[in-house]
Amino acid sequence: MKISLKDAVDLLNHGEVVALPTETVYGLAASLFHPEAINKIFLLKRRPLNNPLIIHAGNVDHLSPFIDYLPSHFEDLSKAFWPGPMTLIVSADKKKVPDQVRAGLSTAAFRIPQHELTRQLLEKTGPLVMPSANLSGKPSGTCREHVESDFGISFPILDGGPCTRGLESTILYFQDGKWKIVRQGALEAETFAVILGYIPEIVEGPKTDQNAPLCPGQLYRHYAPKAKLILKKEYENELKGIILGFEDRHYPQGLRVISLGYLNNPETIAEKLYAVLRQIDLEEIKEVYVDFSFEQRGILSTIAERLHRAARD
Ligand code: TXA
Ligand code: MG
Repeated sequence: MKISLKDAVDLLNHGEVVALPTETVYGLAASLFHPEAINKIFLLKRRPLNNPLIIHAGNVDHLSPFIDYLPSHFEDLSKAFWPGPMTLIVSADKKKVPDQVRAGLSTAAFRIPQHELTRQLLEKTGPLVMPSANLSGKPSGTCREHVESDFGISFPILDGGPCTRGLESTILYFQDGKWKIVRQGALEAETFAVILGYIPEIVEGPKTDQNAPLCPGQLYRHYAPKAKLILKKEYENELKGIILGFEDRHYPQGLRVISLGYLNNPETIAEKLYAVLRQIDLEEIKEVYVDFSFEQRGILSTIAERLHRAARD
């Protein structure tokens, strides 16, 4: 259900949960200062309690009170990429960031999103926690209709139109003197080299000393439609059945081609990826062969990672 900016501010300040647009995906937002609203997010999403939340704010001054210590390049990264699709995980002030937000870890994740409506709202609400607005395990929601399909048509949503990036923020984690990417996202790894002087390593399922993953969310099946996705690295001409493929390729043996867009325009593939995965469910398709024979560079690397996880059992 569409709500106004004013209603969204009032609801959040009164401890309610609302869905908000960002440039990456829609988020389910709760005030950092309302523990019962934060609990409600975990319940609504059916999210495991050991999966921490990202703290969002309108500017860095609103975030700094919650940060214990700033690692090297934090300021340079924040100046270069905020507002924008980058999340930084740093040591948290444990007294100020509630345990439930950090899932008991000593770190917290921070981001300043770019969507104009949500930026205006954040100035009035202060910091908000905001996971992607989808039931745990499903593809993230990138428009109001996706959020309504997961949480019902009367769920309060600030409608900011479809998300332009379509992929979640890139998450960077500072460890052993270097920034590492613990979740690939809308900004490709190479982008950060200008600021850091190196391309941050992409670490899948990285472990802390206690053998817990650096980014708990990477443990879970995610981005997945109900349909079985079968990734195929074969030559396009050989693909059969219902194919999730690309506009600039030919699949002569395909029964039907569901298009992700043009490989030579990966930003547009990112923008519609989750909508296409959700459409497969709406049509109750059981099995899809994914054309996975593309060069996994830049943003196509994130897209490949999402398809990989969507295909995981
Ligand atoms: O683009 C985005 O980042 C979106 C929009 C709404 O801002 N948000 C989003 O949140 O994707 P969520 O909760 O769906 O994914 C956040 C990921 C999870 O995998 C979680 O485990 C990880 O960030 N995370 C959060 N805090 C962390 C921490 N302190 N240490 C390690 N990982 C953390
Ligand atoms: Mg998510």
